Amino acid sequence: MAENFGYIHALAFSPQLIFFMSTTKKELLWQSRFSLPFDRDALLFSSSVHVDKKLYREDIQGSIAHVTMLAEEQIVSMADAEQIITGLREIEEELTSGTLQPHWEDEDIHTVIENRLKEKIGAVAGKLHSGRSRNDQVATDTRLYLRRQITELQEALRGLLSVLVEKAECYHNTIIFGYTHLQRAQPISAGHYYMAYFNMFNRDRQRLQDLTKRVNISPLGAAAFAGSTLPLNPKRSAELLSFDNVFANSIDAVSDRDIIIEFISACSMIMMHLSRFAEDLILWSSYEFGYLEISDAFATGSSLMPQKKNADIAELVRGKTGRVYGNLMAMLTIMKGLPLSYNRDMQEDKQPLFDSAETTISSVTIFAKLLENTKLKEERLAKLTAEDLSLATEIAEYLVRKQIPFRDAHRITGKIVTWSITSDVSLPKIPVDTFKEFSDVIENDIYDCLKADVSVNSKKTHGSCSFDSVAHQIDEAKKQL
Ligand code: ARG
Repeated sequence: MAENFGYIHALAFSPQLIFFMSTTKKELLWQSRFSLPFDRDALLFSSSVHVDKKLYREDIQGSIAHVTMLAEEQIVSMADAEQIITGLREIEEELTSGTLQPHWEDEDIHTVIENRLKEKIGAVAGKLHSGRSRNDQVATDTRLYLRRQITELQEALRGLLSVLVEKAECYHNTIIFGYTHLQRAQPISAGHYYMAYFNMFNRDRQRLQDLTKRVNISPLGAAAFAGSTLPLNPKRSAELLSFDNVFANSIDAVSDRDIIIEFISACSMIMMHLSRFAEDLILWSSYEFGYLEISDAFATGSSLMPQKKNADIAELVRGKTGRVYGNLMAMLTIMKGLPLSYNRDMQEDKQPLFDSAETTISSVTIFAKLLENTKLKEERLAKLTAEDLSLATEIAEYLVRKQIPFRDAHRITGKIVTWSITSDVSLPKIPVDTFKEFSDVIENDIYDCLKADVSVNSKKTHGSCSFDSVAHQIDEAKKQL
């Protein structure tokens, strides 16, 4: 896409080229009403071929369904329909193989295909457009595109979810620090951490599934926006395109883009989840944290500092999140002031849509691979979690079990923590007599709970971080995959 922008740019800013181009002319679909040809700069500015050429498959698919319906309803003859369909199939091959290069002068991909069909089969090509406008045509193409991208994105998410379950299983018994405010909070099973992300991405998958219901509605047959005098059968074309349903209102069918906004919003949510996860990977792989090793195959170096090992892939995912959010804002803004029904502003929907779909699918896919290629540094984590202050909550809850009100238990434990820090004695190494100075209910059994694995495993509540709970979560997750 980038080279194409460059191309258009070069054309727009090269006076010689524009001068040269102004000698070539193609008739536009709507030209007959006008006494002057459309200004070439205006055409260059309004052409969307460089972006919407991605929709050629969907466009041909939609056209084949439309003309099949036209033939079945005897609006065009079977022979004409067959000729049109054969021509369209050939054009699809030409576009796929690159023998047909869409040209910006054709205004948009729909016209590229229409003009090429006319070149191939002559005037009969024009029958394809009986009872159809580019308005319902582009709305149909967009829905077909969305449906395909949603399936692909769901597949990518499924891949990520299975890596998360694998990681949760592999590190089920590994203890890591759980954080709040980026401060060590409580020890948890690493499996619990991975399963947290499983839940987030699983909801993302469900969100896409739910969106499919609204995407899978055919706008074909709405024509420009008011319907047609021809005896079209929109239900039949919907069926031919495997849409679940057909539009209820022809204005609505061509003039909303809410499903695109919803899709980009779902993409934004996925990117937000990925970006947070990326942030953890970046931090955890740093020397300061040192919890995680990224495989050399997924790390990058520095051209200047030979020692560097950077987490560029995670950083790029985090960075691309900003672009997807920008697309969401762009779409909301494009739509906000549009009077019903179709307005040309809506042509601007494709760049944000394509970019969001491609960015999110590639980010999820590469992130799953990156994650697969990370290892927790288990020895270091075991050492760090064994004597850490994050065991303090264990003392407070120990005191609660000895009937001390929680608020008092918390205060007593806070004092113990201060003592531990100032005396440089870790919690499990504090002598029992010292403990007793803070609370006389403390006995030798305090040491039983000052162990990270005991701390993790004694969590009793539903969905908690204990090894049993994580094992249960993993079982449930496997059923969902
Ligand atoms: N390229 C246009 C788009 O994507 C197709 C619809 C053109 N319709 C029109 N009334 N000019 O929105």
